[in-house]
Amino acid sequence: MTVSDSMGVEEHRNWDDVDYSALLSGKAFPPTFMWGVATASHQIEGGNSNNWTRFEPTSKSGQESGDACDHWNRKEQDLELIQDLNVTHYRFSLEWSRIEPEMGTWDQDAIDWYSDLVDQLLTRGIQPMVTLHHFTNPLWWEDLGAFEEESNIFYWIRFCSKMFEVLSDRVEWWCTINEPAVYASMGYVLGEFPPGERSFKKTRKVSLNLMRAHARCYRTLKSMENGPIRKIGLVKNINIFDPYRRWNPLHRFQANVLDGMFNRCWINGLKTGRFKPPSAFRSIPIDGLKGSSDFIGVNYYTHLLATPFMPTKVEIDPLIRPWEERTDFRYPMYAEGLKRAFDMVAQLNIPIIVTENGVADDDDDMRPEHVRRHLQITAEAIQNGHNILGFYHWSLMDNFEWAEGYDQCFGLYHVDFETQKRTLRESGHLYARIAKSHRMPQVVILAGGLGTRLGEKTQHLPKSLVEVGGQPILAHILDWVKSQGCNRALVLTGHHGEQFDGFHHPSVELTFVKEPEQMGTGGALWNAREHLEDDFILLWGDDYHPIDYGPLVHHHRETSSRLTMTVTTDHDEMNLHYENGRLVDYAKDGDAPREFNGYEAGTSVVSKSVVMEFGKDGNWSWEKTVYPSFSNEIHIHIDSTKFWDMGTPERLEKLEQFFNESRT
Ligand code: GAL
Repeated sequence: MTVSDSMGVEEHRNWDDVDYSALLSGKAFPPTFMWGVATASHQIEGGNSNNWTRFEPTSKSGQESGDACDHWNRKEQDLELIQDLNVTHYRFSLEWSRIEPEMGTWDQDAIDWYSDLVDQLLTRGIQPMVTLHHFTNPLWWEDLGAFEEESNIFYWIRFCSKMFEVLSDRVEWWCTINEPAVYASMGYVLGEFPPGERSFKKTRKVSLNLMRAHARCYRTLKSMENGPIRKIGLVKNINIFDPYRRWNPLHRFQANVLDGMFNRCWINGLKTGRFKPPSAFRSIPIDGLKGSSDFIGVNYYTHLLATPFMPTKVEIDPLIRPWEERTDFRYPMYAEGLKRAFDMVAQLNIPIIVTENGVADDDDDMRPEHVRRHLQITAEAIQNGHNILGFYHWSLMDNFEWAEGYDQCFGLYHVDFETQKRTLRESGHLYARIAKSHRMPQVVILAGGLGTRLGEKTQHLPKSLVEVGGQPILAHILDWVKSQGCNRALVLTGHHGEQFDGFHHPSVELTFVKEPEQMGTGGALWNAREHLEDDFILLWGDDYHPIDYGPLVHHHRETSSRLTMTVTTDHDEMNLHYENGRLVDYAKDGDAPREFNGYEAGTSVVSKSVVMEFGKDGNWSWEKTVYPSFSNEIHIHIDSTKFWDMGTPERLEKLEQFFNESRT
C-alpha cells in the first residue's frame, strides 16, 4: 500500500511477496560493496570515565555502563567475532576520555590500544572505519561546557588531529560526529542524554557548534598528511516523520516541523554551507561547511508518526500503523523508510554509506527479517541509481544502549553480561551468509614459478619474490588486490616455499601453502584444495594485471559461471578463440590458428568445483588440462588493460619503469 501526497510517499509493502533469493546468491550487491558491523567505544569497552558515566546514575534506566562488554580486555576474542561474520569493514569509535583523560595529557597506552586494533583488523583483512565523536566527552571538556561553547571546539579538533596523525596511514574511512541531531535533542531537549537539560536556547547553540566542529574537523584533517586520500564524512541519523493522519493538517504540520529540525536543516547545512539550527529563525554561514563530507553516513532505525500531542517521553508507546510490528524499543520496524532516507540525502550528491541499521530484539524473532528487509531496500536503491557504498549493521554485539542501559539488545551476538559469553544469533548467521555470498572472493596466487630466466641470483628464487619498483612483485600484486576490495589471499608457494617465511602484507590476510615437490599449476591448486573457498580469483604470481575486479566478479556471478577468464584482445600474440562470450579453443604453445581472437590475460574467477572435477595427484598444468576440455563452459570477460609479466630481464625493466612512473 502506498499513501502518497505532497508530504511524500509513505510506502508500505507486502513483504510476504518479496523475493529475497538474490541476497543469498550474491547477486543483490556489487562485489565492491562494504560489509560492516558497527560499535561505539562507550557502549562496549567498559571501565570508562566520561560525561556518560557521571550521568548514568540519574539516567532514565539508572543503569551504569560498568564493565559493558569488557571489550577493552577482550579485543582479540572480539576480533574473531567480527571476522566470523565475513564482514570486510568494522566501524568503531575512539574514546577521547581514555586518550586525553586530563586536558593536554595524552595516554600513550590508550593510543597504542587503538593503533593495535587497527593493525589487527588489517591483518585479518578487515578495513577500519573510525568515528571521532560518538556521544561521549572527557569530564574536563564536559565541565568546560562541551559543545555549548564555540571556544571548546579547539580541544576536540586537537584530539582529532592527534589521532589522525597516528592512524591515517592505515585508516581510510573517518566519521567526524555521530548523529549531531540526536546528541543535541537527547541532551538538550528531551534531557535523556547528558547533560540532561531541556533548553531550546542551548539546543540551538550546541547544534551550531556541532556543525562548526564537523566542518573544522573535515578541513583540518583534509589539510594534514594523508588527508587528501582519506574519506571523511558526517554521520546523520535520518528519522522519517509521517503525519499520523495524513488528512489532518495539524499532524502534517507537526511532521513537517520535526522533519525540518531533525533532518532537513542538517542536510541543507552541508549542502549550502548555511546552517539554520533547529528552532532558530535565521541561517548562519559556517566556514568550510559546504561540501565538507566525502560521503554521508546514514543511520536509519524507524519512522515516527506525528501528532501535535506526541509523547516526548519514551515510556509512552509511540503510535504505529496497525499492521506494523513493534521492536523491543517500541518504535516500529519500517524498512521502507530507509529508501526515503536515501532519497533525502541523495541531494548532497556524494556517496552514501549506511553507517548504522539494526534492531533491538532480544529474542531475535524479528532481526532476521529486519536484516533481509533493510538489505533488500538498499539493494533496490543501488539498482535504481543511488551511489551506496556499504552497509554497517548496528551492532556487533549487545551493549550499553545509553539511556536504556542493557535493556535493549541490538547485537548480532547475544552477550551474557554475567559471564561475558558471546553467542551468535540466528540473524548473525544470516548476515554472515549474505556478506559471504557478496564479498569479493578469496584470491589465489600461483607463486611457485622460479625466475630461471632472470639471471644468476634468481635461479632459485620464486619469481613472485623478485624485487621490482622497490618491493617484491607479490607485494605489488597484493596492493592491487587490496585496492579491489579483496581481503584474503591464498599464496601457493611451490616447493621453494620457505623463502616466503616472514612475508606479510599490512591489510590482506595471507595463507601460504607449500608443495612437497614441483607440482605444476594444476597440482598446486589440487594440493591446496582444503584451503580453497567456493569461488576464488586466480592470479599468476609473476604477472601484474591491474584490472577492475568488480565487473569480472559481477559477470561471473550474473552468468552463474564456473570459470570466467579475462581475455585481452590487444596483444601481439593470440592463444585462444572465443565466440558469444564462451571459450571455443585454447592453445598455449605453437602457432595460433587464424580464427584466434584473444589472449588469456591471467585473472580468472574459478569455482572450486572445477578443481574438484579435474583434480589429480602429481604434476599437471591447470591451463593445459582444464582449458581445452572445459572450453565451452568457460565464460570470457574482455578487459584489454595491459598486463605486465617479468619473464625476461627486458620485461622486468619495463615493469620497473611502469612502477616508477606510476609513483610520480
Ligand atoms: C544510534 C546510536 C548508537 C546506538 C543506536 C541504537 O542512534 O548511534 O550508538 O545506540 O542508535 O539505538
